[in-house]
Amino acid sequence: MRILFVGDVVSSLGRTMIKEYLPRLRKKYMPHATIVNGENAAGGKGITHKIYRELREWGADCVTLGNHTWGNKEIFDFIDEADALIRPANFPKGNPGVGVHTLKVLGTDMAVVNIQGRTFMPPIDCPFETIENILEELKPKHKVIFVDFHGEATSEKQAMGHFLDGKVSVCVGTHTHIPTADARILPNGTAYITDVGMTGPYDEVIGTKKDTIIRRFRTQLPERFEVPKEGRTQLSAVVVDVDSKTGTATKIEQVLINDDHPFFD
Ligand SMILES: [Fe+2]
Ligand SMILES: [Fe+2]
Repeated sequence: MRILFVGDVVSSLGRTMIKEYLPRLRKKYMPHATIVNGENAAGGKGITHKIYRELREWGADCVTLGNHTWGNKEIFDFIDEADALIRPANFPKGNPGVGVHTLKVLGTDMAVVNIQGRTFMPPIDCPFETIENILEELKPKHKVIFVDFHGEATSEKQAMGHFLDGKVSVCVGTHTHIPTADARILPNGTAYITDVGMTGPYDEVIGTKKDTIIRRFRTQLPERFEVPKEGRTQLSAVVVDVDSKTGTATKIEQVLINDDHPFFD
């Protein structure tokens, strides 16, 4: 089974990249399941119903979120009805939505789980304990388990990768928006990367207008972050092959599309 995962889609520029390249990526790599992180899809913060539906139309079988889940208040109106939209499972009890999405792929039961780190991030339930409990429920029925671990600290993400090694098929990191060069298969067969990277503006600072961010770093004054409406764009993704009988990953390939890494169909 082949899975395509696209990292944090940021604003209209990110959505344009998804619209243009998701169909082309799916044609080239022929994934059996496509997952997209959409936590920044609406103006950099959160997601709207229209955008969720668009991502699904353009090819996403499941949309994951992160710390910006509640960034656009429209989500409270549709998260409970959206059948393939998940937010971090370790958000406190009483939060709307769910953290696990299950689907049938090539006759195999697959599950997508979204969890969030808590190092240099808002205090939430323990991601390790949460995923442990979730895996107990998912196994043994779900042979293929895909985890989007949304975290700030590379160490926490690496620790989670090793913690889940051999227990899930794939554990990819999101949130820091910068692709890391450590895509690999861990010793017990879990495909891992610390951060997939983001999809959207290419010449800004993690997707936000660079002038604002530079000024903020220099002055330490509060600034309203803005996402650019034009400029060069990028897409960051991984393609993972999983043996659906055993759930073991056999290959992980990083896919970057930008002016420095042109896409060939
Ligand atoms: Fe993000
Ligand atoms: Fe995030």
